[in-house]
Amino acid sequence: MNPLDRIEQLRREINQHNHNYYVLNSPTVSDREFDALMSELQALENEHPEAFDPLSPTQRVGSDLTKGFTQVRHVYPMLSLGNTYSVDEVDEFIGRVQSALGQKDVTIVGEMKYDGTSISLIYEKGRLVRAVTRGDGEKGDDVTENVKTIRSIPLQLQGDGYPEMFEIRGEIVMPWEAFDRLNREREINGEPLFANPRNAASGTIKMLNPGEVAHRGLDAYFYYLLGENLPADNHFDNMQAARGWGFKVSDIMTRLHGIEEVDSFISFWDSERKRLPVATDGLVFKVNSLRQQLNLGYTAKSPRWAIAYKFQAERALTRLKFVSFEVGRTGVITPVANLEPVLLSGTIVKRASLHNADIIKTLDIHTDDMVYVEKGGEIIPKITGVDKSAREPGSDEIRFISHCPACGTELVREPGEAAWVCPNKYHCPPQIAGRIEHFVARRAMNIDGIGEETVSQLMQMGLVKDIADLYELNYSVLTSLDRFAEKSAQRILAGLESSKTVPFERVVFALSIPFVGEIVARRLARSLRNIDALMSATAEQLVTIEDIGDKIAESVVGFFSEDVNREMVERLRSYGLTMSMPDEPEESRSDRLAGMTIVISGTFSHHSRDEYKEIIEANGGKNSGSISKKTSFILAGENMGPAKLEKAQTLGVRIVDEPEFLRMIGGDEPSESKSEGEELSLF
Ligand code: IVH
Repeated sequence: MNPLDRIEQLRREINQHNHNYYVLNSPTVSDREFDALMSELQALENEHPEAFDPLSPTQRVGSDLTKGFTQVRHVYPMLSLGNTYSVDEVDEFIGRVQSALGQKDVTIVGEMKYDGTSISLIYEKGRLVRAVTRGDGEKGDDVTENVKTIRSIPLQLQGDGYPEMFEIRGEIVMPWEAFDRLNREREINGEPLFANPRNAASGTIKMLNPGEVAHRGLDAYFYYLLGENLPADNHFDNMQAARGWGFKVSDIMTRLHGIEEVDSFISFWDSERKRLPVATDGLVFKVNSLRQQLNLGYTAKSPRWAIAYKFQAERALTRLKFVSFEVGRTGVITPVANLEPVLLSGTIVKRASLHNADIIKTLDIHTDDMVYVEKGGEIIPKITGVDKSAREPGSDEIRFISHCPACGTELVREPGEAAWVCPNKYHCPPQIAGRIEHFVARRAMNIDGIGEETVSQLMQMGLVKDIADLYELNYSVLTSLDRFAEKSAQRILAGLESSKTVPFERVVFALSIPFVGEIVARRLARSLRNIDALMSATAEQLVTIEDIGDKIAESVVGFFSEDVNREMVERLRSYGLTMSMPDEPEESRSDRLAGMTIVISGTFSHHSRDEYKEIIEANGGKNSGSISKKTSFILAGENMGPAKLEKAQTLGVRIVDEPEFLRMIGGDEPSESKSEGEELSLF
């Protein structure tokens, strides 16, 4: 078969498999078979740059940083919906619609109100041309590159019967599973958690790095088709047609007749929605007939033919006992409301977050107030209001503290930030304890047997003042601790001993350098190779490393500019911790690339970009960031940007794909099983 035809065939086939997997939830091939098709397509596309298509399934991985988003005016403004929390008001809406249309038998479509961020997609000739956020309703941001990474969104439509050009609107959501995974990762990395899937979805779709978006597991449900020459004269059938073109359209969508059916739809989904894999905050009722929609028209803000019924967030009223202020590992002060225990969606709540000083002020909360606690999509319950009518006369306003509750240092707040911070990093006990707990954690040094309580005992007895002191502990000191048996002491000593072989990249993570999470630590370690290079790196040097921006670079330089940290690192070194990456094995070095200048572009499946830089250097080559006449070849990964591709073609620079490169440097192509393992660790 002609390779260009094969490319087309593979694209169609892969699109169908993506649809089966991400929309229909019923894959018909194994991951391995799917990967084989993708690699075949990738290889053919590399050999045939003339067949480049920004909508090819190979373009879904997302990589290069986008500079920002262009603002685009919506073809049809994106209105919001009138909403209500009351079933009676939904019934009134039905009554209003019936009398305005002068008939009783108006078909209403009931559907879920997905709690994410709305998106408008434009398709021309069956191809996705643009994805725009709601913005202010008139204009939104062009987030096409990010949207392309959402596998359930068709880039190329299936079937036929779609209009030449149309718009489809829907909601980008982050399913609970992806949300929980993301927050778990953020917790490990000391990054602030997302309060709910809606914030996570809208934060993700506005990220400047499509490669990162691709890993966050977004999904999208569609609920509104606009344009001329739509397939049907009613909303329901249009949405069924859209499903046939490849969009994820919920099958909860139901045609209803009359108030009774509407009410039982509400009472069914009010509880049943909790079993859905995504967050929902209500239901939407729409008049089905497009002609009737047109007759009903719009108010200034919303259509008269639709209404949103919002589920009551689960809420309880209880008394505030007191507010405590807690100090985290990074010194941020979190106000916490301590409550009379109250039952809320099946669990007893005793504590709820008050977030920050501004929120305390807005709530105008006083001592002993009766407060409303809510647990919506949120993981941590929060205080959403105060019942002021129940307030005791003479009660005091709750004030945010001015000094650290643990060490008494005056708190500081960076301009533009909401959080107050205790600046006494090295002597404030909860900050030290937080860093020690982080140091011993499984993902860091993995030292068994040291929990919160042990850390607190060791600190109270003055035995441990920083992480390096842990390595001074010995058997007699440990067994002298309260409730400390021989066995636990031995376990800790063994854990400390074996932590000396923990790889350098995890040592870097364990140091609690602000903004250096697991991934950043790995990048730093692999690129700089040892602690001396890391300690002496300048900000200019650091920002040349992948994923390292100004903020992280300054944080690293700041950390190592402090004597306490340098001394601590020296002590850790003297106790035998691993302070460098292992040397490359001799056989992986060569001069096969001597004299060559190589540009790396795209994303890879067998090694990271940083590793390829190292491989190039280990084989005598030079890595360069931009294509010029001097470039010997481009090592091209999965989605080399079209601009680079064009430049390479104009200058006649050769493009080498990943398997070819690996053959060039002498190794065999990586075995199947290796590539599969790497794939797994990516997702
Ligand atoms: S219809 C003109 N249907 O809720 C009607 N909206 O306040 C356009 N939403 O901005 C919207 N699920 O982000 C519609 N099934 C659904 C929805 C839905 C969620 C969101 C959407 C919209 C907001 C309306």
